[in-house]
Amino acid sequence: MTRENGQLEAKRAVGRQVADMVEDGMSLGIGTGSTAAFAIEAIGKRIVRDHIRIVGVPTSYAAERLAREHGIPLKTLDNLEELDLAFDGADEVDPAYNLIKGRGAAHAREKVVASQARRFVVLVDSTKMVDVLGTRMPVPIEVIPMALGPVSRAVKRLGAEPVLRMGERKDGPVVTDQGLWLLDARFPPIEAPDDLDRKLNAIPGIVEHGLFVGMTTDLLVGLPDMSVRHERAER
Ligand code: A5P
Repeated sequence: MTRENGQLEAKRAVGRQVADMVEDGMSLGIGTGSTAAFAIEAIGKRIVRDHIRIVGVPTSYAAERLAREHGIPLKTLDNLEELDLAFDGADEVDPAYNLIKGRGAAHAREKVVASQARRFVVLVDSTKMVDVLGTRMPVPIEVIPMALGPVSRAVKRLGAEPVLRMGERKDGPVVTDQGLWLLDARFPPIEAPDDLDRKLNAIPGIVEHGLFVGMTTDLLVGLPDMSVRHERAER
């Protein structure tokens, strides 16, 4: 099996495992990305096979379309005061279960949905585990377009190199589901994610950033032998 296929199969395995954690009557936060997509597919199969009745709140237009395709009934956070379980992928996970998310530009809705869930289950293959966040991935920062200049300068003062994310097969910047723009900010290794989280939250013009600090309750790691390791985190 090639490395890419191994990674894909590990993502499929964690997707199946989180689907098995879903119980009849649950309300779910539905994540975005290739790993969450395997979970959505597996949950759709459980609806057919096990007749579980669930509702989901999607974290993006992409997740919404996929969930509908797999027969998951959808609601909004206006209808639901709390979610039983939210699941989502991540780009990097550190030993304290802090995350970088947002490769797919969905981190703003993902953070809102995860914040409303009693359990936030993070789904990754083992290549996403790092000793320190920022090792491989930049931190995505969603910005109001007219604040691009001030936010870029403020992020540079924090030691990062911000780059405006550009569209593919579309001229100009990536436009998020909120109609906003994204800076990918490459920081030196992030030794204190809670500190950086607070500093980014204090910059006017940033709507949301991709550091998820202290939110994970469960981590499912897909291993190269296709087994899944379940780790539990304190919130
Ligand atoms: C979406 O914006 C992201 O936060 C994804 O959840 C994250 O990038 C993980 O994606 P994959 O599961 O595709 O690796």
